Amino acid sequence: MNILMVGDVYGEPGRAAITKLLPELRREHAIDFCVVNVENAAGGFGVTPPIARRILDAGVDVMTSGNHIWDKKEIVEYIVKENLLLRPANYPPGTPGTGSIVVKAGPHKVAVLNMMGRVFLPNLDCPFRKADEEIPRLRQETPIIVVDMHCEATSESQAMGWYLDGRVSAVVGTHTHVQTADEQIFPGGTAFLCDAGFTGPHDSVIGREIEPIIKRFMTNMPQKFEVASGRVLLQGAIVEINETNGHALKIERVSEPQVQT
Ligand SMILES: [Fe+2]
Repeated sequence: MNILMVGDVYGEPGRAAITKLLPELRREHAIDFCVVNVENAAGGFGVTPPIARRILDAGVDVMTSGNHIWDKKEIVEYIVKENLLLRPANYPPGTPGTGSIVVKAGPHKVAVLNMMGRVFLPNLDCPFRKADEEIPRLRQETPIIVVDMHCEATSESQAMGWYLDGRVSAVVGTHTHVQTADEQIFPGGTAFLCDAGFTGPHDSVIGREIEPIIKRFMTNMPQKFEVASGRVLLQGAIVEINETNGHALKIERVSEPQVQT
């Protein structure tokens, strides 16, 4: 089976790219299941219920998130009811929502586990120990498990990939908005990519207009950061998985331009 994992959808340009490009990508690559990180979908900060619904309608099976998940307060009520939107599993007990889900995909079941790193990010519970807790439970239902590791440090993302090798089908990083070129299959059969990149405007600094960011770096003065415009890419990775044992057979990066009309 083919699973498409898409990097952080950024603002309106990212949402438009999902709506326009996803149906064709699904057909072209015979995608059976699609996971999209949506934590920047609302103007770069969080996601709202109408936006989440629109993303699901575009052909997305499960939405993941990260440190921006709580930016829009109305998402708290939504995440409790809609379990197709995940927040990192290693938020402390009592946090609304869930960090993993098992969903039917044709004759198979796919488990999605969302996790967040702790280097240069909020100090959540240990994602490694949380994975140890979650994976045996998910494996009782299906050997097909994909992990969104929302991470700032490439070292932490890689460490998680190696730690989970042989136990999950894929570990794909999100959060930095910069696609890495290290896609590989580890010896135990786990596909890995340090960061999927992001879906949104790429003539930018990680999705925002360039000038105010440069000014901020040069002066340290507060600036208004708007979502950039211009060239849009949908970025992520397609993982081919053996449904019987959950092992990855192939991982391929996606960086699909949206033709401006
Ligand atoms: Fe993030």
